[in-house]
Amino acid sequence: MLSLCCIMALLALSCPETSGNTAGVKVKLTQKGLEYGRQIGVTTLLDQFKTIKVPDFSGSEEVSPIGKVSYSLTGSEIKVINVGLPQSEVALVPGTGVSLTISNAYINLHEKHANIFCANSKSPAYSYIKDEGENGSFDLAVSELSISTTVTIQSDDTGRPVVSSANCAASVGQTSITFHGGASWLYNLFSSYIDDALRSVLQRKVKCYTVQSLVLAKVDQYAEIDYSMVESPVISTSSIDLSLKGEFYNIGEHKEPPFAPTPFSLPPDESNMLYMGISAFTANSAGFVYNNAGALSLRITDDMIPSSSPFRLNTKTFGTFIPQIAKQYPDLMMELLVKAATAPTVMFTPNNITLQANATVTAYAIQPNTTLTPLFILNVDASVSCQIYVTGVKVAGNLTLNAVNMTLGTSYVGPFEVKSLDSIFQMVLKAAVIPEVNALLQQGFPLPAIGEMNLVNTQLVIMKDYLLIGTDVQFTA
Ligand SMILES: *[C@@H]1O[C@H](CO)[C@@H](O)[C@H](O)[C@H]1NC(C)=O
Ligand SMILES: *[C@@H]1O[C@H](CO)[C@@H](O)[C@H](O)[C@H]1NC(C)=O
Ligand SMILES: *[C@@H]1O[C@H](CO)[C@@H](O)[C@H](O)[C@H]1NC(C)=O
Ligand SMILES: *[C@@H]1O[C@H](CO)[C@@H](O)[C@H](O)[C@H]1NC(C)=O
Ligand SMILES: *[C@@H]1O[C@H](CO)[C@@H](O)[C@H](O)[C@H]1NC(C)=O
Ligand SMILES: *[C@@H]1O[C@H](CO)[C@@H](O)[C@H](O)[C@H]1NC(C)=O
Repeated sequence: MLSLCCIMALLALSCPETSGNTAGVKVKLTQKGLEYGRQIGVTTLLDQFKTIKVPDFSGSEEVSPIGKVSYSLTGSEIKVINVGLPQSEVALVPGTGVSLTISNAYINLHEKHANIFCANSKSPAYSYIKDEGENGSFDLAVSELSISTTVTIQSDDTGRPVVSSANCAASVGQTSITFHGGASWLYNLFSSYIDDALRSVLQRKVKCYTVQSLVLAKVDQYAEIDYSMVESPVISTSSIDLSLKGEFYNIGEHKEPPFAPTPFSLPPDESNMLYMGISAFTANSAGFVYNNAGALSLRITDDMIPSSSPFRLNTKTFGTFIPQIAKQYPDLMMELLVKAATAPTVMFTPNNITLQANATVTAYAIQPNTTLTPLFILNVDASVSCQIYVTGVKVAGNLTLNAVNMTLGTSYVGPFEVKSLDSIFQMVLKAAVIPEVNALLQQGFPLPAIGEMNLVNTQLVIMKDYLLIGTDVQFTA
């Protein structure tokens, strides 16, 4: 049951606090996903049934002609010989959730050292009535076992998401107990105790679960992603469709960006278990958050420039383009501070993700006493292409530079031709800035998920205004 809950809770839900919001992320669980949920639900249950134990019990009974007999069963070593769940079915219940039914299940058990003993309390010597050759052994067969449960998605009083299995019921059709050994006529007295104990053990194995799913997925020290639901799940006869907020926020500070999601809907594909649509809004909310956190800035020093490069980050190199620099600050190393001017903007067009970034680059000369003396500030508008891929349960990216426009912001060294710096800045961006950003993007951003799961057979397509991920899921624990 837990696993079915997991499949649904991986959709990481919360419930609507405000309705009418447009989703940043959409998730669809297909029939194929449910079928996988059924398989792991059945496997989990089979594993649980394989560890059934009949608890110790004791009591006393009037037995003619012996008199009052007290008995106990201890140190039970019951073994499951055979168990089967031959018929199981999972179905979408429109508007509610998922129903799972298992019927005609059976379990055969064998107990070889029951240590059943009986004592006649009238005899001061507690004469044990026990077969001398063997300890009480018996075989148990349970058949026509049926189990049913409904997994629902609801919100609790505070609007938090709850995925729970309800109406969990096990009904045991028949049990039969066969004792072996000389005194089995006597042990048969206890068959109703064993029968009762077994029925209640089976009932307890079929537990109802409740899973509170994750709403906020932490990304790093700056950001978390809100995967709460913005409207009630749509449960049809073929899929469960969820609309999630899919918005990055600064940790502990939920400030809304000056833009909203563009509505989109997932295509009707059903060949994967799970589909996720991640909007450009989600990506742009990330840019907004990292920019707010002041995280979009980078210091470039000479050691970050490949040693093979003919350009060094010093006043000699820059002096060849801007002679005043070599004259005023001879033989000094330089440092560049690249800083976003505005949050970057991401655009999703079919098969293409482009990122527009506006930044300032401040060039400093490093004085012998390590003081940084500003030389000039450039405004840089860069267009960057982004390849996106799924790694683990994360989506990661890799940037390549398309084009750069530079204009002079401020000069502290007099006028100069910005165009002359084009090739050196292209090199700095490609060799130092982009690799640094890629190192971060390659760590990835968490997709809505819970538990230990892997994504397999994953496909990723860039659609207009959103990224479509179709995937199968494998639970690893
Ligand atoms: C019966 O159980 C007792 C106590 O566990 C053990 O000492 C004894 O060897 C067992 N007898 C047989 C025949 O298995
Ligand atoms: C992607 O889109 C951008 C802007 O829409 C365009 O400049 C670029 O050439 C496109 N790239 C590809 C590979 O189609
Ligand atoms: C970047 O700058 C260009 C021109 O300077 C401007 O048209 C564009 O809107 C800016 N983009 C962002 C994301 O601020
Ligand atoms: C460092 O050196 C520069 C240039 O010689 C000078 O202007 C500045 O005051 C010095 N700073 C400190 C903290 O000594
Ligand atoms: C650079 O400027 C030109 C002309 O103003 C413009 O067409 C182009 O889109 C700009 N490119 C970037 C990357 O901002
Ligand atoms: C990122 O893109 C660059 C150039 O396009 C390529 O050389 C590199 O292998 C890519 N890295 C990853 C992790 O995809």
